[in-house]
Amino acid sequence: MAHRIAVVGSNMTDLVTSIIRMPVPGETLEAPSFSMGFGGKGANQAVAAGRLGADVMMVTKVGDDVFGQSTIKNLKENGIDITHVGTVAGKSSGVAPIFVDESGENSILIIKGANNELKPADIDAAAEDLKRCDLILMQLEVPLETVYYTIAFADRHGIETILNPAPAAPNLDSSKVIKATFLIPNETELALLTGLPTDTDAEIEDAARSLIAKGIRTVIVTLGSRGARLITADSSTLIEPLKVKPKDTTGAGDAFIGSFARFYVATGELEASLKKAALYAADSITREGTQKSYATLEEFNTFVGQLPPK
Ligand code: RIB
Repeated sequence: MAHRIAVVGSNMTDLVTSIIRMPVPGETLEAPSFSMGFGGKGANQAVAAGRLGADVMMVTKVGDDVFGQSTIKNLKENGIDITHVGTVAGKSSGVAPIFVDESGENSILIIKGANNELKPADIDAAAEDLKRCDLILMQLEVPLETVYYTIAFADRHGIETILNPAPAAPNLDSSKVIKATFLIPNETELALLTGLPTDTDAEIEDAARSLIAKGIRTVIVTLGSRGARLITADSSTLIEPLKVKPKDTTGAGDAFIGSFARFYVATGELEASLKKAALYAADSITREGTQKSYATLEEFNTFVGQLPPK
């Protein structure tokens, strides 16, 4: 039986424009192409885990608009349990205008809409199903009070948690998040959370260690094209990236986290799961789109099978 993962988090509709450059204020500029896709850090992580065969449940809110309906349909089509997906009357669904340049780098705006309505009461309503999960994933595109409440709930019930503190939130209370099992920030989010510089590898390690000293067990810092660093009380390990030619890096961090969650719940092996997650994320950036670029288990196995031996 597949291990069960819950995602308490956001969903968005990604409005993706490919650009040569951003217009300056007052300028109108033609862009080469536009496409829509399903996104939101929570839904992305849920879909990555689901496509790899995990049994995934999502706790999220959509608006009562066409984006909300298609988001629910998309989650269902990806095999995600939508029992705890609510629709908020009179609110728009979350949307994310995204600009992707020729190097594959992205800039993202988010309008959270109904995601702002995911409240602690929704965690209470999903409590019995959440208790049956092996792991709960969270990000910061829903209210912080809900994230804190979920971490405390999971801690009380002995459920492991991953907190991806993204997008960076200046007012995140580190005393509340240290109860998470895994914290997965990027360098910017780590700096904001600790108030420490994260410009060099040594600084990143010191900042992560300051959180470990406060009680968090494991910090995994994502470093973009430089891979990721796994830091525990007694180790610091670089998770090497796989070098690929990027087409679109949007959602690569979510591919990494969602796939890590799936590999980790299935095996309990931390480092091996992170190495596989790095490959999954690398594969995703060779294709355009966010969730569109996430491989199924079969596609991922084919990709790994074609890699040159190390
Ligand atoms: O992490 C990428 C995601 O951030 C996009 O899908 C967008 O919706 C924003 O939430």
